[in-house]
Amino acid sequence: MREKLEQLRDGALQAIAASSGVEQLQEIRVRLLGRKGELTALMKGLGALAAEERPIVGQLVNTVRDDIETALTAALMAAEEMVISDRLRSERVDISLPGRHPLKGTKHPVSLVIEEICSIFAGLGFAVAEGPEIEHDWYNFEALNFPPEHPARDMQDTFFVENNLLLRTHTSPVQIRTMLKQKPPVRIIAPGTVYRCDSDATHSPMFHQIEGLMVDKCVTFGDLKGILTVFTNQLFGQKTGVRLRPSYFPFTEPSAEVDIACVICGGKGCRVCKNSGWLEILGAGMVDPEVYRHVQYDAENISGFAFGMGIERIAMLKYGISDMRLLFENDVRFLRQF
Ligand code: PHE
Repeated sequence: MREKLEQLRDGALQAIAASSGVEQLQEIRVRLLGRKGELTALMKGLGALAAEERPIVGQLVNTVRDDIETALTAALMAAEEMVISDRLRSERVDISLPGRHPLKGTKHPVSLVIEEICSIFAGLGFAVAEGPEIEHDWYNFEALNFPPEHPARDMQDTFFVENNLLLRTHTSPVQIRTMLKQKPPVRIIAPGTVYRCDSDATHSPMFHQIEGLMVDKCVTFGDLKGILTVFTNQLFGQKTGVRLRPSYFPFTEPSAEVDIACVICGGKGCRVCKNSGWLEILGAGMVDPEVYRHVQYDAENISGFAFGMGIERIAMLKYGISDMRLLFENDVRFLRQF
């Protein structure tokens, strides 16, 4: 019995020393010390011993079990530490490596220009107004003093939706919608998408405009020029020259086209300004009394001006973009530059 116990212990200690890993050690524990284990089996033989031998062998059983336990516990602890240090090594993070940058979008140059223009006019007391892109003929033409069959309708290559519905060709219908909704004083700008059947390097069938409208007692052409000068100076720089040329729009009288000194050559003459030194950026004028009649404003007692500009054209001048189509291709290599 004693010999068997000692053999068992020696075998156990060897097996423990030779074992690799937590699982094997747990198997060894079950095999030796478990309810159906080898040591338990040996203990069953205790009863067959002589009475005086029993306590001595019993004590030996205890020592053997303690020895095995101690060896097992120590080996388990070592094995668990190995597992942890292996994990620490394999999952090590090199915090000195450069991070991965998430891909961030940028604002479209057209949005940037709209935001900038709106904020300049907000500083001048203009509120932002909006209107629908599918518009009635009446708002887009008729109320703006384009009678049916009027040749001025040909200036704008209209996309028709059905009978009296069309894609608005300019933001000027927002003038009408605003004046029908509110009485003077009016001071609004209206950014938005407009459509014309036209497409080349400087024209897109879909583009953006910003409309301006100011109506009050005693608004003069001088106020128009003053506001537009403040505006162009803020948008293009303090000393940008401004020039007004006589023009024609059915809904303004007198009308003007507004040029700024070429931002590319400074007025000396280049390809962009076609050697004129000037760039046309907007149309403007004093609101025609005929328009007031359509919105029931008293033309005798109020006056006002309106203006409208193309955003893409301004974005192209501001950022030196030579082909308008670049603005609509959505190539991120282009868009990221702004
Ligand atoms: N709506 C005109 C256009 O698109 C521009 C304009 C607006 C002219 C307001 C005068 C006054 O050409």
